[in-house]
Amino acid sequence: MALLFISHVDSPEDWKRAFGKFMPSLEVRAWPDVGRAEDIEVALVWRPPRESLLNLPNLKLIASLGAGVDHLLRDTLLPKGVPVTRFVDDDLTAMMTEYAVLHVLACHRRLPEYLDLQRRLEWRELPQPLARERRVGILGLGVLGGATARKLAEFGFQVAGYSRSPRSVPGVETFHGADGLKRILARSEILVCLLPLTPETEAILNKETLGALPKGAALINLGRGGHLVEPDLAALMESGHLSAAVLDVFRKEPLPLESPFWRHPRVIVTPHVASITNPESGARKVVANLERVRKGLPPQDQVDPSVGY
Ligand code: NAP
Ligand code: GLV
Repeated sequence: MALLFISHVDSPEDWKRAFGKFMPSLEVRAWPDVGRAEDIEVALVWRPPRESLLNLPNLKLIASLGAGVDHLLRDTLLPKGVPVTRFVDDDLTAMMTEYAVLHVLACHRRLPEYLDLQRRLEWRELPQPLARERRVGILGLGVLGGATARKLAEFGFQVAGYSRSPRSVPGVETFHGADGLKRILARSEILVCLLPLTPETEAILNKETLGALPKGAALINLGRGGHLVEPDLAALMESGHLSAAVLDVFRKEPLPLESPFWRHPRVIVTPHVASITNPESGARKVVANLERVRKGLPPQDQVDPSVGY
C-alpha cells in the first residue's frame, strides 16, 4: 500500500527517509505521481489541490502536515467518511512556545521600538514596566496557546487566554464567548493570536478588535493570515494606536513585495516559520494512526470538519 504526499513547501525526500524508518513497507508517492489510485491508503498533505483526494477508493486517512487544517477543510473536496487528522506533537509545541515567548519578551522590552530608534541614531530611554505589571492575552487556549500561556505565566506576566468553550489553565485568567473577547482585548497590552482559522475566526483581528486594545499595544499573529485584516493593522500602526507587530502568517504567502509590512520599522516579518513539522515526529504519528485505522480504530488528533479545527 502507499502514502500520497502533497506539499509545495516540504521536501518529499525527507519524509520518504522518515517513513523508511518507521514503516519501510509503506511506499511514499509524491504528488502528482499518484500511480495506481487503488494503492493509496493514506494522504499526508499541505494545501492539496482541490480535487486531489477524490477517486482514491482505499483511502483510510487524511493527515494534515500542520497543526492547522484550514488549508485542507476550506479548499479541498474531501471524500466522505475518511477521517482527517491534524498534527499535534511535543516538538511542534516546543518550537511554537519558543517563538511566542521570544516575541512577547521582545515586545515587552520594546525591542521593535529600540531597533527603530537605533536606525534613527536616537539614544532615548522608553518607560519599562516589570513583567508582573504587563498584561498579555492569548487568543486560542488549545495545544499551542495553552502551552504558551503557561510558559508566559512562569515569567510572571499577567496572562489571560481566550477560547470558544470555557477553559481552565493554572495561573491564567480565562475568557470565552463574545463578551470574553471584549474583556480580553480591553486588558491585553501584548496580544498573541494562536487561533485556528475557521469561518468564525476569519478576520477576527480587525479595526474594531485591534482598536479595542490599550493604546501602545503590540500584536503577535502566529495563527493564520486570514485572521488579520492587514490594512486595518497598517492604519492602527500609522495612527500610533499600536506600537509594534510581529507577523509570521499572511493572507498571501510569500508576502507580496508591495506589502507595507516588509519595510515598516516596527513590524517584524517572518516567513511562516514559528513552528515547523519535523518529518521524524510526523512520520511516527502518521504510522501510528495508520495502524489504528487499519484495525478499525479512530485515529488520534482527528478534527471535526463541521467545526473547522
Ligand atoms: P487547537 O489545540 O485546536 O486549539 C485551538 C484553540 O482555539 C482552542 O482553545 C479553541 O477553543 C480556540 N478557538 C477555536 N475557535 C474559536 C473561536 N471561534 N473563538 C474562540 N476561540 C476559538 O489548535 P493548536 O494546535 O493550538 O493550533 C492553533 C493554530 O496555530 C493552528 O490552527 C494554526 O493555524 C496555527 N499554527 C501556526 C503555526 C505557524 O508556524 N505560524 C504552526 C502551527 C500552528 P476550545 O478550547 O474551546 O476548543
Ligand atoms: C503551520 O502553520 C501549522 O499549522 O502547523
